[in-house]
Amino acid sequence: MARFSEDALTEAVIARMDKCDNPRLKQIMAATVRHLHALAREVKLTEAEWFQAIQFLTATGQKCDDKRQEFILLSDTLGLSMMVDAINHARPGSETESTVLGPFFVEGAPDLEMGANIAPHAKGGAPTLVSGKVSDGSGRPVAGALLDVWQAGPDGFYDVQKPDAGMDLRARFRTGTDGKYHFRTVKPVSYPVPTDGPVGQMLLKLGRHPYRPAHLHFIVSAPGHEPLTTHLFVKGDGYLDSDAVFGVKDSLIVDFKPGAKPGEFTCEYDFVLKAA
Ligand SMILES: [Fe+2]
Repeated sequence: MARFSEDALTEAVIARMDKCDNPRLKQIMAATVRHLHALAREVKLTEAEWFQAIQFLTATGQKCDDKRQEFILLSDTLGLSMMVDAINHARPGSETESTVLGPFFVEGAPDLEMGANIAPHAKGGAPTLVSGKVSDGSGRPVAGALLDVWQAGPDGFYDVQKPDAGMDLRARFRTGTDGKYHFRTVKPVSYPVPTDGPVGQMLLKLGRHPYRPAHLHFIVSAPGHEPLTTHLFVKGDGYLDSDAVFGVKDSLIVDFKPGAKPGEFTCEYDFVLKAA
């Protein structure tokens, strides 16, 4: 029976992929094996620690369901999501910068008329008018752009975190020929990522806080343009420099200015899409 030294073992596992007819899969899996083995060697991983890692990943998977995505949260809190974002979305021009999708996006948010209130059930929270336009890199308005927007409520929770809440604080709007958009909502607040699962436990053990600075989520898409997944962050939020998922970019911080009435706010932001 063959025995392998530490170095030979890594190459032996990779050699078993010789017959793989998908070169990209082979490249990714070979690199995965190489880095996993290197990790184990670097820290001299014990069997107990290896099993603890297995249990952690098992618990992470078991925490996932059709509304909860603990693996995205793990990726986000380890900075992997923002690493993938940085690799794939370098935007040296005027285009709006992207950031993490996060674990709370839901397909099929209701299509609402421009100007609608996406927070009709929110208790408390400062009424806020969000407006701006969607344009291309040359400044031309993008007609028919779809803005998919979602956010946490004044209590810091998304609808999917509450049993039987239904769709709330999320909607889709489509721009007209002028590329403009506006809708009403409540000013977002900073909130902790879920701490009742394995990822929350990990943060606790690492001495990390779980908070995200206040933000609105957007996916802006239009034919002929790259879909843009991004946030608008509230200027002045205390967690902008320590976002639990490393998602803040300076260009996405917006000054929520006082609105028409006391206690109300306005948020104005123009999205610039990149040609596909
Ligand atoms: Fe969020």
